[in-house]
Amino acid sequence: MSDSPRDQLALQLTEAVAEALRVDLTRQDNALLVVSGGSTPVPFFEALAACDLPWERLQVTLADERWVAEDAEDSNARLVREHLLQGPAAAASFVSLTTADATPEQGAVAVAERVAGLAWPASVVILGMGGDGHTASLFPDSQELPLALATDAPAVAVRSPSQPQPRITLSADRLHQARRHVLHITGDDKRGVLARALSGDDARELPIRAFLACPLATYWAP
Ligand code: 6PG
Repeated sequence: MSDSPRDQLALQLTEAVAEALRVDLTRQDNALLVVSGGSTPVPFFEALAACDLPWERLQVTLADERWVAEDAEDSNARLVREHLLQGPAAAASFVSLTTADATPEQGAVAVAERVAGLAWPASVVILGMGGDGHTASLFPDSQELPLALATDAPAVAVRSPSQPQPRITLSADRLHQARRHVLHITGDDKRGVLARALSGDDARELPIRAFLACPLATYWAP
């Protein structure tokens, strides 16, 4: 791993997440880590995979997923399997967010039941953020956003005109069920979006705002 700011950020995040998992495992049999997809997390995934952790006691799931086959190029499950669940980390229990159903609307109940059975509250939820202020698959232009922000259902099928595939996302309520929340972002554009988010309250405009009231550790590098 290089000594670039983004790689150093990934190492710092890895140290914090590994320690959080170790602490929680002193008081519970299993610990849950919720991660996001996209490109930002890759160096973090690869650094965490190299950590000496009791991976067989760890559960990993996603904050959201594109409704595509798990071997598709743009599958978050594929991203996690290829970059995080490698070496010793392959012993972790990974719970994906897709089913064989044709649409996320058809699969949402089964996914919600699957998610509900995990070791909540999560030890850590790692959130990313898009340039439109979305996080997970809580998109400002999605008709399902109000539902996903308000429901206590663990998972919601969502569609967004800005996204090529239908999505499934953990609800804001479920994503709040964690001991620790992290926002992992890089670049000046996202720093500007975060600044805008911090200066207002409407989560429907910038959904990341739904997570600015709870303690949120922001990991940002240029
Ligand atoms: C996804 C993610 C999404 C991601 C942001 C940031 O499925 O794409 O869960 O919420 O975190 O879009 O993505 P980048 O890290 O690629 O900028």
